[in-house]
Amino acid sequence: MFKETFYLSAILAAIANAAPAAVAPSNPLRGGEGLIGYSPSNTISNENTESISYQLAPSQTQDADIGAYLDFSTIDNPQPIRGSLGGTDPGPRNLNYDRINPDKLAPPGTDSGATINAQWPLGLSHTKLGKSGAGWSRQENIDVMPAATLMAGVDMRLEAGGYRELHWHVASEWSIVLNGSCRIQAVNEDGQTFIDDVGKGDVWFFPAGIPHSIQALDDGVEFMLVFDDGDFSEDNTFLASEIFAHNPKEVLSKDLGVPVSAFQDLPEPNLFIFPGTPAPKDIEEQNVTGSAGSVPKAESYSYHFSEQPAEELEGGSVKIIDPLSFPIAKDFSAALVTVKPGGLREIHWHPTSDEWTFFIQGQGRATVFTPPSDATTFDFMGGDVGYFPQSNSHYIENTGSEDLIFLEVLQADHFSDVSLAQWVGSTSKQIIQDTLNLSNETLSKLSTEKKTVVL
Ligand SMILES: *[C@@H]1O[C@H](CO)[C@@H](O)[C@H](O)[C@H]1NC(C)=O
Ligand SMILES: *[C@@H]1O[C@H](CO)[C@@H](O)[C@H](O)[C@H]1NC(C)=O
Ligand SMILES: *[C@@H]1O[C@H](CO)[C@@H](O)[C@H](O)[C@H]1NC(C)=O
Ligand SMILES: *[C@@H]1O[C@H](CO)[C@@H](O)[C@H](O)[C@H]1NC(C)=O
Repeated sequence: MFKETFYLSAILAAIANAAPAAVAPSNPLRGGEGLIGYSPSNTISNENTESISYQLAPSQTQDADIGAYLDFSTIDNPQPIRGSLGGTDPGPRNLNYDRINPDKLAPPGTDSGATINAQWPLGLSHTKLGKSGAGWSRQENIDVMPAATLMAGVDMRLEAGGYRELHWHVASEWSIVLNGSCRIQAVNEDGQTFIDDVGKGDVWFFPAGIPHSIQALDDGVEFMLVFDDGDFSEDNTFLASEIFAHNPKEVLSKDLGVPVSAFQDLPEPNLFIFPGTPAPKDIEEQNVTGSAGSVPKAESYSYHFSEQPAEELEGGSVKIIDPLSFPIAKDFSAALVTVKPGGLREIHWHPTSDEWTFFIQGQGRATVFTPPSDATTFDFMGGDVGYFPQSNSHYIENTGSEDLIFLEVLQADHFSDVSLAQWVGSTSKQIIQDTLNLSNETLSKLSTEKKTVVL
């Protein structure tokens, strides 16, 4: 079905009416007619692009399908070569990017086709600077990671006493404290109030539309906010100063039962991140309750996740927070994972949700596999966001010399994953043999148990 029909007569008429071919005016910025086409003058540059001096990383000459991590950090002039594949790059290039993305420059032979872009380094986000040295923030959302539709993130810093202004938003907010401590407070739709102090490793959650604020305590704070909407933007929140600036003062006066003159000294709106008076040490001094009382403990907006011990595993450790332990955050399920040097968060997928990942410390790599046969390997570092679509398999391998720490966040009522190793280990050997042609010796080593993080 053609939506438009092209008539030859109309096309010919359009050509006939077009301006005659322009004769190039003499202009020192342009070359002359003699440069067009065939090269009788034979003036081709004889720069030799084959005499490049470079070094290969130890595993770079192995068969490309082995795909071992290539540490380019000390390699002189790394090249896009894997086994028998690829060739040298005479330039132009940015060596800094190539060194930290060896699996982009020289991908494993098992990479194929094109998956989504599963990586966004927050170092490439534009930082929003707060007022008077009070802090900053930077975000990841679908503007920079178009396939990350389910969740978005904001990394925020508040210096001692700095505020994230009183506000609310359409999305729900889940957050983990990365460093330092802060006081968080909110009032719910029933007038119940909430106030608590949280420190490094603790989690909070504010449901959609619930107004809240955050103030750094004496040691300052940095936290990572995760929103249940990939299209979230920190620039589109409902700020207290804006709602006061955009309602008639006559109405505000009636609304709050005070004279119009009460609003003569309102600040310029959009405070966002700004300095404040230090929060009192005793939290009780800021505990305001009306007849509705405070938010019941079982529905509390904070969870002292830092005090939950992690489960020790062969290759690292894991701890989970999901609605089974933190019910108010009804769709947020997360795992905080530590992988020792050389360790591997095993190949797995999440059957019910995309995964939004934040790399807190160290470096690692992951291959995303998307059906039918696309696979891309990404190199991550602390400060990067990752994204793995629902049921797309992935692993995370520690490629550095310190512990790799990251957070996996799902939109799910409990945390779940399917392990490749457990799947094949828990399937009849005959079926696996018929399908994958593994030797009896290999089959005898498969395990029925989920290992989560292996070494
Ligand atoms: C917290 O910040 C301090 C000061 O910069 C730093 O020494 C420490 O390593 C940070 N902790 C984490 C977990 O990043
Ligand atoms: C705030 O006050 C209420 C009512 O007295 C009390 O139940 C609640 O525990 C207090 N909250 C804090 C954080 O102290
Ligand atoms: C299975 O592996 C054996 C070697 O162990 C090989 O001879 C045979 O051709 C393979 N079968 C298939 C179907 O690939
Ligand atoms: C592998 O094990 C199966 C079942 O025990 C057996 O029938 C088969 O002969 C074995 N194959 C080899 C190569 O040993």
